[in-house]
Amino acid sequence: MQTKIAIMAWYKILGRLVIFMIHIIPEPKSLFLQKGKGLFPFSANTALVNTALPQAAIEDFQKFLSQNFHFQLSKTAGDMQLSLTLSEEGNPEAYRMDISEKEISVTSAGEAGLFYALQTLKQILLSGGLEIPSLVIDDCPLYPYRGFMLDVGRYFYPVDEVKHFIDMMAVHKLNVFHWHLTEDQGWRVEIKKYPRLTEFGSKRSHTNFGHKSHGGFYTQDEVREVVAYAHSKYIRVIPEIDMPGHMQSAIACYPELSCFDRSLPVATHWGVKHDILCAGKESTYRFVCDVLDELIPLFPDGYFHIGGDEAVKMRWKLCPHCQAFLKKMGLKDEEELQQYFMSRVNRHLKEQGFTSMMWNWDSVEATEWLDRDIVWQMCGMPKNTQSEIMAGRRMVNSVSFPYYLDLPYGWFNLQKTYENTPEIPNIDETSAKNLLGLEAPLWTEYVPNMKKADYCTYPRLGAIAEIAWTAPQNRSWKHFLQKLDDYYRLLSACGVKHPATLKQAMPGTLRAKGYSLWFNRRQLHWAGLHNLIDDANVKRLASK
Ligand code: ACM
Ligand code: ZN
Repeated sequence: MQTKIAIMAWYKILGRLVIFMIHIIPEPKSLFLQKGKGLFPFSANTALVNTALPQAAIEDFQKFLSQNFHFQLSKTAGDMQLSLTLSEEGNPEAYRMDISEKEISVTSAGEAGLFYALQTLKQILLSGGLEIPSLVIDDCPLYPYRGFMLDVGRYFYPVDEVKHFIDMMAVHKLNVFHWHLTEDQGWRVEIKKYPRLTEFGSKRSHTNFGHKSHGGFYTQDEVREVVAYAHSKYIRVIPEIDMPGHMQSAIACYPELSCFDRSLPVATHWGVKHDILCAGKESTYRFVCDVLDELIPLFPDGYFHIGGDEAVKMRWKLCPHCQAFLKKMGLKDEEELQQYFMSRVNRHLKEQGFTSMMWNWDSVEATEWLDRDIVWQMCGMPKNTQSEIMAGRRMVNSVSFPYYLDLPYGWFNLQKTYENTPEIPNIDETSAKNLLGLEAPLWTEYVPNMKKADYCTYPRLGAIAEIAWTAPQNRSWKHFLQKLDDYYRLLSACGVKHPATLKQAMPGTLRAKGYSLWFNRRQLHWAGLHNLIDDANVKRLASK
């Protein structure tokens, strides 16, 4: 204790240097020590007053205190207090925290801001201890969209694990949970009109990790439960039904959804599949709209992700339905057919008040067939990125190398991720506002359990949260590294058991090569041969 007070006194003399004692990720916009003021002793005698936050948000903080410090805040007013007050106007995610000897006073224009202040306070207590120096923190996010995506299609993650991801998002001040609900390898959400989707489509017979079977899905009640849970942490939920590609699990249930009514199993291994939804049959559009219509009431946050990635056009080129439709509509080629498909689904969603999102699939060159109001989630940077954003298209940056959490640290280490800021280069300031923010996807082809998920996600998510929240002038890689010991303590306090160590996240050349080779070998294994043989079969079928 003596040492701590001595250190604090020393820091008081040196003023702003105190920021190096208290480690917060993402770094706040500004943090100043109030000279000449003492310490706030945080204890069970601290009373919670003016709580403008609902019970669930308070409970989250009380639970943290119980688990880590073995006390809770008092509910009766006393000398020491923590007050959480809503102010009149401003950014509802921004907050001001003023700490003096007798009071921690938090104000924000929104509940989210007050909630974020409590997340900051958690980190102050963990890194600096219970004697808090008199600080003023002014904080607000750089981007309004700070997302994390979980692919539950390749591997199913049950509700409790999804909630744990949501807890961790809140700690990182992330505010969009993108729930990738369907994949070739599994359909994960109950659709009452098409019961086979979950009865049959949610199970695969084996996996690339040697499981003899794998499956699982969320009932609609469970979906409501997860959405309500996310809302209690000021996180919006964007569901994704990936189409027209990545639909083999649905085709396995209803073969008529594919171009040649193919009878296929739920995919067992990953790789880009060539059997996708047939865009030439009206029945396909009916199916898609039925599915969306059942899901719309479960997701009140106004955004729906409709996929669009890796839709190989091989079948469409051969399919009499697709070809007839393409001619009827006056479309130039199969790429335009996909743009028509995405726009038609977008319009259906728009009629019900939704904004659509889609991956900007490989080198897409948008034509007039692709609605401008569809938000692009960038997994690459095609050459028309600048012209599209300047023409008004909104975007979220998820470019694979820096932001895909599942890719090996040997391809893109922690520092490279941290230093890869999400701005779109060479655009004007007004257009820059069309970049809503960034999102870190966790694809799970090679992430079969929480152990691997922890390893992939942390500490990378800390770096991504900081570049999404903190303006470049207020942060640095060097300072981020200094904060990492406390960040690992935070992760442990929040129940993350298997994060990558700094050494794993920043591998030397040899180790990096090792990770990459392992990853590449697995990719190569499944991509080519099967598709080649299968394509020849379909060609034969089509020419009959
Ligand atoms: C993607 O990487 N399949 C969007
Ligand atoms: Zn077709």
